[in-house]
Amino acid sequence: MSEKLEKARRFEEKHERDITEEMRPLFHLSPRVGWMNDPNGFSMYKGKYHMFYQYYPYKSQWGPMHWGHAVSDDMLTWKPLPCAIAPDEPYDNAGCFSGSAIELPDGRQLLMYTGVRREEDEDGEIRDIQTQCLAVGDGIDFKKYEGNPVLTEKDLPEGASRNDFRDPKMFTDEAGVYWCVTGNRPADGSGQLLLFRSEDAFHWTYFSTLVENKNRFGKMWECPDFFKLDGKYGVIVSPQDMLPEGLEYHNGNNTLFLAGTYDKEKGKFTEEHAQPIDYGIDFYAPQTISTPDGRKVMIGWMQNWDACAVREPEAPWAGQMSLPREIRYKDGRLYQYPLKELEEKRCDKVEYKDVEFDGEKELPRIEGRMCDLEIKIRPADPFEIYHRFAIHFAEEGDMHSTISYKPHEKVLKVDRKFSGSRRAIVHQRRCQVEPLRDGTVALRIILDRYSAEVFAEDGRKVMSMALYTDISAKGISFISDGKVKIDVTKYTLS
Ligand code: FRU
Repeated sequence: MSEKLEKARRFEEKHERDITEEMRPLFHLSPRVGWMNDPNGFSMYKGKYHMFYQYYPYKSQWGPMHWGHAVSDDMLTWKPLPCAIAPDEPYDNAGCFSGSAIELPDGRQLLMYTGVRREEDEDGEIRDIQTQCLAVGDGIDFKKYEGNPVLTEKDLPEGASRNDFRDPKMFTDEAGVYWCVTGNRPADGSGQLLLFRSEDAFHWTYFSTLVENKNRFGKMWECPDFFKLDGKYGVIVSPQDMLPEGLEYHNGNNTLFLAGTYDKEKGKFTEEHAQPIDYGIDFYAPQTISTPDGRKVMIGWMQNWDACAVREPEAPWAGQMSLPREIRYKDGRLYQYPLKELEEKRCDKVEYKDVEFDGEKELPRIEGRMCDLEIKIRPADPFEIYHRFAIHFAEEGDMHSTISYKPHEKVLKVDRKFSGSRRAIVHQRRCQVEPLRDGTVALRIILDRYSAEVFAEDGRKVMSMALYTDISAKGISFISDGKVKIDVTKYTLS
């Protein structure tokens, strides 16, 4: 084991003790210590779910990237494992960037990641050179492949940048052939996805350009995923430098889902549908997995580059993963549902039906920071529609966060302005949400200690945000401008 990896392992073992259970999310994966960004290598190995992640153990800020590692039986309760890889080779000494993992037929675990090194260009500028590299392991310890890097600028098609060539996602097809899709910047300065092929997972060759962005959805495309979903082919990608369209794509670092068809001979994806994946503030770089019972489950980084400053730099950890979400493709759209295993964590059901009010309302036993809330809101009088309905949560004194709905505009909004954030960053985000025919808006809200995820329109719209309000702020209350009738079901999650 290299000195760098040994040092990281010693450091995390010592310093994770400074982080008590209360200081972390309950069922969202957080870094063992320090900083976390993208999910990496989300996969099954020997019957267990493995998650690696972009990791800098020494500070709660981005630094030379290592891979953190955790294992789980249900994707909700994670056991930390030792740091998997460190930037300890000449070809990756500026960082082990994002990538993926698979189980090889001989029982070994294979990681593919982007090795970053820095070189001075002809113009005197020092730039990242990104190549794809492998590491082989047993679920805990990994050895970098002696043939690294396995994909370099020599493997790139004409015009493809060696500076933006990253985030390989591996998969196998029915014939047992290995494929990997990577993000890349072509000559037009935007993004494209490149497909590479291998017979043995160690020797790779360029196959095709799977999709081209052509500056339609942001610029560079990071962290791709490519899979079959409900009879279609799906592409997930995280575009940088995104422009908003109406109330869609407001994050500068956004997430995009494309559905379409795939020509296997040519290796070309043809897009039929495009949409943002999450409409909240904090969601990026998601990866998917196929579960043994045939579900497609997605996890993203529940933070965003533009709004990382919501976390104080001296915090003991920064960054967390989203709730695992089952994804489906129906009626020409992506649907997302909270992982069904979450229902096993529900206890202490509290239920209210047809609560009518105008103004402020608190309901006995509706409180808490770790809960699964189902709320149905409808006008009490169909001829006098309310103006605005709001749920305050993580509430105590001057602190609260808000989820609100304005039926005349059909706009759902999340707001963490009063969550304790001391930075002038993005705190609010709005999203179009259609009510049901009778005017009902049904929301499922999943709260963990330091986040809120709102599922609306039966999973067609999801809004995620991280919040770091002091854990003593447990209040939940309702505010209505106009007469409403609400049903509330609340479970504590434990
Ligand atoms: C996306 C990303 C990836 C890269 C990693 C570096 O958030 O920029 O493209 O591999 O983060 O940490």
